[in-house]
Amino acid sequence: MDIVLRTHQLTKRYGKKLAVSGVNMTVKRGEIYGFLGQNGAGKTTTLRMITGMVKPTAGKIELFGRTEEKGRHRLFRRMGTIIETPGAYRNLTAWENLDLHRRLMGVPEKERVEEILELVGLTEARNVKYKKFSLGMKQRLGIGRALLHQPEFLVLDEPTNGLDPQGIMEIRQLLRDLAEKRKITILISSHILSEIQQLATKIGIIHQGRLLEEIDYETLQQKNRHYLQLKVSDDRRAAFLLENRLRIADYQVAEPGVLRVYERLHESARINRLLIENGVDIAEATLMRDSLEDYFIRLTGVRANGMHSERRGA
Ligand SMILES: Nc1ncnc2c1ncn2[C@@H]1O[C@H](COP(=O)(O)OP(=O)(O)O)[C@@H](O)[C@H]1O
Ligand SMILES: [Mg+2]
Repeated sequence: MDIVLRTHQLTKRYGKKLAVSGVNMTVKRGEIYGFLGQNGAGKTTTLRMITGMVKPTAGKIELFGRTEEKGRHRLFRRMGTIIETPGAYRNLTAWENLDLHRRLMGVPEKERVEEILELVGLTEARNVKYKKFSLGMKQRLGIGRALLHQPEFLVLDEPTNGLDPQGIMEIRQLLRDLAEKRKITILISSHILSEIQQLATKIGIIHQGRLLEEIDYETLQQKNRHYLQLKVSDDRRAAFLLENRLRIADYQVAEPGVLRVYERLHESARINRLLIENGVDIAEATLMRDSLEDYFIRLTGVRANGMHSERRGA
């Protein structure tokens, strides 16, 4: 598997404060890696180290397979980033801002500007001055600038901050397209679980400077499934009946006496009847849902939805 970014014990200390502590994260080619954590968790500091804006106190960064710092600036050309709020010239239009950036980046093809405008959905706004832009348009221009030199790896720090639901949806769709159609690997941070959950193919959870866990796509899917939970008198017998009489394979014994059935949920009445008719008592049958949110709370001790109400930004 092709690894775009790997950090080894990445650490940043500000005075006595450990902003980032021993982070080992891995971003593979083609992933949309969601970097999730509350405000103050250490997301921005981590992304600043990865993009070379801040020097780590300790640890290593492996970019495109290389760890040596010599020649790293050439690797940075293969990345596109928005970490600070994307600034632009207020009195220049969308087209002019992008074209200026193109020349600064030494990209010779002038037609790239039109392509990028199209890509980020700003073609119609090409002659609108930046100062007239909505926040969503500003974010899209920022992403456009990050994409202008055709990077293979895009690093975005909370790109949907301050956007309304419509704007958030548009950015999400844009990022999905970039990943799917242009095969761009994306590392995106957010403090909003639901947002990351809808977009990411992998999630890394950072809390108080530490990366608690990386969850891959399959596990993520598992964490959002409905299931029928059965408290039964005899789990072995119940399992036998499910497998042999109903050909149900997707189930698990969660704990002694508790079965979770993940398939044929619409036939729950039939499942109940089969068990009872064959001498298995059912103390409880409940339709449940695994949620990433519950998991997140167990992991961090913090309510994920409490993250929404926190002050945005930073
Ligand atoms: N330049 C800095 N000087 C001192 N402390 C900082 C600096 N940047 C960040 N911090 C502290 O490091 C911690 C992590 O901050 P940050 O990386 O911005 O978190 P996040 O982006 O997840 O909100 C916070 O406690 C923050 O106050
Ligand atoms: Mg931040």
